[in-house]
Amino acid sequence: MRSDPLGYLTTELEALKQQGLYRTLRVLEGEQKAKTTFDHRQVVNLSSNNYLGLTTHPLLRERALEATRRLGVGSGSVRSIAGTMDIHMELERRLAVFKHTEAVVVFQSGFAANAGTVAAVLSKDDVVISDELNHASIIDGCRLSRAAIKVFPHKDTAAARRIVAELPAAQRKLLITDGVFSMDGDLGALPALCDIAEEFGCIMMVDDAHASGVFGRNGRGTIDHFSMHGRVDIQVGTLSKAIGALGGYVAGSRALVEFLYHRARPFLFSTSHPPAVAAACIAALDVLEQEPQIIERLWENTRFFKSGLQTLGFNTGLSESPITPVIVGDGALAMKLSDRLFQEGVFAQGIAFPTVARDKARVRTIVTATHTRDELQFALDVFAKVGRELSIL
Ligand SMILES: Cc1ncc(COP(=O)(O)O)c(C=O)c1O
Repeated sequence: MRSDPLGYLTTELEALKQQGLYRTLRVLEGEQKAKTTFDHRQVVNLSSNNYLGLTTHPLLRERALEATRRLGVGSGSVRSIAGTMDIHMELERRLAVFKHTEAVVVFQSGFAANAGTVAAVLSKDDVVISDELNHASIIDGCRLSRAAIKVFPHKDTAAARRIVAELPAAQRKLLITDGVFSMDGDLGALPALCDIAEEFGCIMMVDDAHASGVFGRNGRGTIDHFSMHGRVDIQVGTLSKAIGALGGYVAGSRALVEFLYHRARPFLFSTSHPPAVAAACIAALDVLEQEPQIIERLWENTRFFKSGLQTLGFNTGLSESPITPVIVGDGALAMKLSDRLFQEGVFAQGIAFPTVARDKARVRTIVTATHTRDELQFALDVFAKVGRELSIL
């Protein structure tokens, strides 16, 4: 009989079970909403990135349906062959105006935008200076580029400066940070990093996945929030979170975008979005411009829920955004907390190593504009009950 060459995977899964870190996928039965049903249980949903509730917004839904009726369900090709539809170009023009940049190129996801861009603009003689908590897609892009990777401690701009200062002046350098860190909800050290980039001639890149639609005027992101327009060479955003649909984009100079048309591998080798996705994203930009009160609601909910968790006595780290971690330390305890919350009607995903450091396991909460006060108060009451039960409080 043939032996199983993948048998070691089962062994590793067994080890995860022993450590209390094995997860089954939660299955959403219905729409992605603030209160919804996962695994046959109705829960207050604190786990989605649907910050503004746009996944189910009537305008996005209608425009996606209209585009499907008019243009079909697929683009049929990669962008660089036959898969650039006029609706893709329209979305890029709209995003460039929104971001105040010369041009924008859209990718199939934020992951593809980050990994594809870093890998395209750098090569083996270059160096990337990266915050230790940057997103996995940045890390993968750095590895794919074959550039040297220098990591600085989280938001330690003095350390970042020391690293950059020691590098040869002539070497090409990319300084890169998340705009909002996805597991901690704190903001990248943008102003100080932009200063360093200018002092030493680095390319400055920001991944604004969790800031798009959340920070800045009408959700333009952290570059707008910190008034850094013109100081960040490469801005990445996602269309998969607050924008409610799917995709990622790179905003910058016309030369950057045209270079990515020629060299970014996800752009060259993976099929473009169906027209419905592009249409939904254009509709989302209309909503950001016409209904900015949604963003204000997101922030009211954020302030209410974050201060509620803090008043109860949970360790919420240094969050400055709608992402609020409840840090408990031990991985198994975080999973237990998440499971008990779920049984009581609150879905907040447990997150442990390797996604976060071994001693920083947590459940991560994300509020949205569409949560009601009652839903958030219910969630706080459940956190209080389960937190005491597990001796976290
Ligand atoms: C900081 C950050 N960057 C990029 C991405 C990738 O975005 P997308 O989900 O559109 O691929 C994510 C999503 O998990 C993220 O948290």
